[in-house]
Amino acid sequence: MSPRVSRFAPQPVVLPIGGGKGGVGKSVIAANLALALARLERRVILIDADLGGSDLHHLLGLANDRPGLGEVLTSRDLGIAQVVAPVLEPRLEFVPGDAMVVAAANPSFQKKRKLLHAISHLDADFVILDLGAGASLTVMDFFLASPLALVVTLPEKPALDNTLNFLKNAVYRTLERTLAGNAAGERALAGFQARGRGAGAMTLGELLAGLESEPADLARQARRSLARLRPKLVLNRVRRVDDFLFARQLRDRVAADLGLGLEVLGFLPEDEVNREAAAQGVPALDLDPRAPFCQAIARLGLAIAPWAGRAAQWALHDRYEGDFERAATEFAGLVRQG
Ligand SMILES: Nc1ncnc2c1ncn2[C@@H]1O[C@H](COP(=O)(O)OP(=O)(O)OP(=O)(O)O)[C@@H](O)[C@H]1O
Ligand SMILES: [Mg+2]
Repeated sequence: MSPRVSRFAPQPVVLPIGGGKGGVGKSVIAANLALALARLERRVILIDADLGGSDLHHLLGLANDRPGLGEVLTSRDLGIAQVVAPVLEPRLEFVPGDAMVVAAANPSFQKKRKLLHAISHLDADFVILDLGAGASLTVMDFFLASPLALVVTLPEKPALDNTLNFLKNAVYRTLERTLAGNAAGERALAGFQARGRGAGAMTLGELLAGLESEPADLARQARRSLARLRPKLVLNRVRRVDDFLFARQLRDRVAADLGLGLEVLGFLPEDEVNREAAAQGVPALDLDPRAPFCQAIARLGLAIAPWAGRAAQWALHDRYEGDFERAATEFAGLVRQG
């Protein structure tokens, strides 16, 4: 067994960072949050899990010259613990993606399962997974690797439908896994998929109600696995306090359509510092820690750091308890300072 993987060490908090759309800031948030948590003396492993689109090394200012997930997924015996390497900061380690490898973007379920198991046993306080855009099976399986996950979205109208669709895919994939191998369950799910949109679309509630009449406790199993889904929303590129209404609207839609509670974990301002950081090939947090975006990331780190070793408890915790006004007031103060 590799020295980095200990059977007895507490499991890390695995934190996938997803969101339906490309370019919403998943990678920027992953890189800077990882750095912020490392500076709060948490041991962090940052993984570029954007298979087919890996570019996190650029944000960290690193050359693309080390093996990463691509090699792990295409090799018979290379484990993820062997490609974890220190970068930038004490306590921060990085696993590059698959930028140098072909045919790693759609791994088999077995490969993924083995990889996700190894990820959940890495020796760290936090393992942050930067996911690719879209809602492909691979993105979903990484997203569902943990009871917790951050969903990044922008305060724009199209993002609302997009995020909703992303979460609907997460729900569907969860049910698909739970009901796999059960004929009645698979039939019900196929019906749900076929009537997914438009007038007469089947709601999740209808699907679950239909399962109630099936034997084998299907509905209870389905409800139990859905109850484990605790995504947390991060609204990025916020410009105005009004943008909070968007987060509230999104949370209400997610509750009504999918029956999921979507906690609002944080708001990050639109900030030029990101453009400058990208141009210079350094994380924004290194370029100007006083920039509003960096201060907001540092606060996010402060909110997250105490949950090291307590993923299950954190999953159930709601930072603002649905109090958008409080979140908005905090945010407004931050932008004034910045
Ligand atoms: N808060 C912000 N303020 C200003 N620019 C931002 C902010 N967040 C992200 N950006 C910019 O948006 C662009 C996309 O960010 P990023 O690459 O992190 O998105 P992504 O969601 O990872 O995209 P992909 O899905 O393609 O991987 C980058 O140019 C980044 O600098
Ligand atoms: Mg990205």
